Amino acid sequence: MMISGKARLAGVMGWPVGHSRSPRLHGYWLEKHGIDGAYLPLAVRPDDLQDALRALPKLGFRGCNLTVPHKEAAMRIVDRVDETARRIGAINTVIVEDDGTLSGRNTDAPGFIANLLQGAPGLALDGASAFVLGAGGAARGVIAGLIEAGVVEIKLANRSPDKTNALVRAFEPYVVPVPWDERADRLDDIDLLVNTTSLGMQGQPALDLPLDGLAEAAVVTDIVYAPLETDLLARAKARGNRTVDGLGMLLHQAVPGFAAWFGLVPEVTEELRRHVLAR
Ligand code: ATR
Repeated sequence: MMISGKARLAGVMGWPVGHSRSPRLHGYWLEKHGIDGAYLPLAVRPDDLQDALRALPKLGFRGCNLTVPHKEAAMRIVDRVDETARRIGAINTVIVEDDGTLSGRNTDAPGFIANLLQGAPGLALDGASAFVLGAGGAARGVIAGLIEAGVVEIKLANRSPDKTNALVRAFEPYVVPVPWDERADRLDDIDLLVNTTSLGMQGQPALDLPLDGLAEAAVVTDIVYAPLETDLLARAKARGNRTVDGLGMLLHQAVPGFAAWFGLVPEVTEELRRHVLAR
């Protein structure tokens, strides 16, 4: 597909940005749908973030995604953010409005839920109870998504208790703190188990969590996607639990931005998963 003088423009701002899979992901959709547009890696130093964001409308960009380390700082620069983003404390998507102002959104929450429901069809989240491990940035998106989907209780365990407590306050009254050392003893009455820690990622130790107490009907998901099947997911699958890997969250969180910038709601397919994983 050739890019014309009328091409729609978007990209991802990060520092560094070279590791980002977003250009590959959006590039696949642009090509697949024959859209006259481009999605570019934008290497922006932290000190330059404000200037870079303000330049988007001046350069005719329709918006951008944000990755490490810009997600929190960008929230204070854009002109408005939605309620979900405010609760999470970070944005990952910027949309340039017709009047040139910048709207910030966080699509991690809907992306997490969309992946979960695609991977575990029929999972009833309304009124459900969940257990979340980890209390970093990713956990905030996951918890916001669970609450919006109707989950009524979220047990939360994290190695550092002060981060657990911060999330208990941010998402009052949904989050119930569980001491990290007691994480294996509190799995009996949950419908969903979510790992948001980096444990289980390539080069990291596995998540140490015996699953003996977990009901067989519970769904287990990991936001780690390298490897696709973490030790946690392999153990859960072996004992009969349904499992959902983390790659789809990365893909689904990109959908609202693409739709806003390029005018078409793209699909998350098996072929897209393979394309994004390929080197
Ligand atoms: P992200 O944005 O992906 O959530 P993060 O904010 O760095 O990344 O969070 C990483 C999470 O993994 C945290 O919950 C962290 O626990 P701490 O808050 O105690 O640091 C968790 N984590 C990382 N390494 C860990 C380990 N060895 N044991 C237990 N938890 C770990």
